[in-house]
This record gives sequence, C-alpha cells and structure tokens, in this order.
Amino acid sequence: MKNIDKHSLENAYRLFESDDISKFEVGSTNGLVQIHTYLFQGLFDFAGELRTKNSSKGGFRFANALYLKEILIKIEEMPENNFEEIVDKYVEMNIAHPFLEGNGRTMRIWLDLILKTKLNKLVNWQFVDKSLYLQAMERSPINDLELTTLLKANLTDDINNRDVIFKGIEQSYYYEGYTKEDDA
Ligand SMILES: Nc1ncnc2c1ncn2[C@@H]1O[C@H](COP(=O)(O)OP(=O)(O)O)[C@@H](O)[C@H]1O
Ligand SMILES: [Mg+2]
Repeated sequence: MKNIDKHSLENAYRLFESDDISKFEVGSTNGLVQIHTYLFQGLFDFAGELRTKNSSKGGFRFANALYLKEILIKIEEMPENNFEEIVDKYVEMNIAHPFLEGNGRTMRIWLDLILKTKLNKLVNWQFVDKSLYLQAMERSPINDLELTTLLKANLTDDINNRDVIFKGIEQSYYYEGYTKEDDA
C-alpha cells in the first residue's frame, strides 16, 4: 500500500510538473476519470473505472453502484458559476464516490481545476487542517456549512505558485494517511 501511495504521489507531481493537467476536462465525470487514471494507472487494476460494488466509510454509505452512472450524468450538469455552486457540486461528487479507492485525492484535484478555471482561485490545502477537513467532509452530506467556511477561508489567488500546488498535493495525500517520511 505504501508503495502504491508513493508512486501515486509521484504521478500527481508529474501531472502538474508536465502541465498535463491543462489537457483534462473541467468539472465533468470524464475529467475526474482522467485524473484517477493518471494518478493510479498500473497501481490499481481499477484505475479510471467506476465501481460496481457498494461502498461506505464511517457509517456513511455512498451512492448505490446500481445508479452511479445516472447520478454522475446529473452531477456533471450541476452549475459552477460561483464558489457555493462549486462546493455543492464537490459535495455531490463525494457522495457519488465513483471509484473503489482514491476518490479523495482525485476529487481535490478535480475541485481545484474547477476553481482555477472558473474563479482564478485554488484551495491552499497546506493550511487546511486534516481533522477539520475530514470532519467537514463527513458532515457535508447533511450540511455543507463547515466545509464551505473552511475552504472559503483557505482560497488563494496565487494559482501559479509551485509551493501552493505541490504542498497542496502533499497535504491531500497526508489526509489519506500517507506522508513522504513513511519511506524513510
Ligand atoms: N463518513 C464519511 N462521509 C462522507 N464522506 C467521507 C466519509 N469518510 C470519508 N469521506 C470522503 O472520502 C474520501 C476518501 O475516499 P477514498 O476513496 O478512500 O480516497 P483516497 O484513497 O484518496 O483516500 C475523503 O477524503 C472524504 O472526502
Ligand atoms: Mg483511501
């Protein structure tokens, strides 16, 4: 597992280093699939593939696999004209949870791509506390106020700053239990 995360983190760095990210679709299911494939190709045999099994975390059951395709069509049609709409869309994508594994890391890149394209902003993830963030995500299917407040307080205009981008990626992997020091 550790090795998979290490290689996936390297893929994530490369996605931005190479600017391959700029070729991806913004705000669509296909865009999400492109990111998942890039991060996990050769690491998960289901890279870029929608799950066919049900999935739950912390007592919350994500969208039923039977309806996943239909739900994703509706989610990608959701508007992205302002910050609130974009967070709404992100919350729904989290509830859909399209992949067996790797949803969190994939979705945060997907969210940033929408924010960058539509609002010229990014989330400065390095300053978004892990436990506050995960609590806000757990709460979000019921009420997204915590998540909206937390992300809004950490938006930045510094969208081409390497430090913002790369420390953000590292933070995203840290949320899911991986730190570079694990390799030492
Ligand atoms: N109880 C919960 N309710 C709603 N969403 C949750 C819950 N627990 C985790 N999540 C979401 O699931 C993500 C983790 O999904 P996962 O597929 O394991 O991604 P990754 O492999 O990148 O960690 C978290 O980042 C969060 O967005
Ligand atoms: Mg995980």
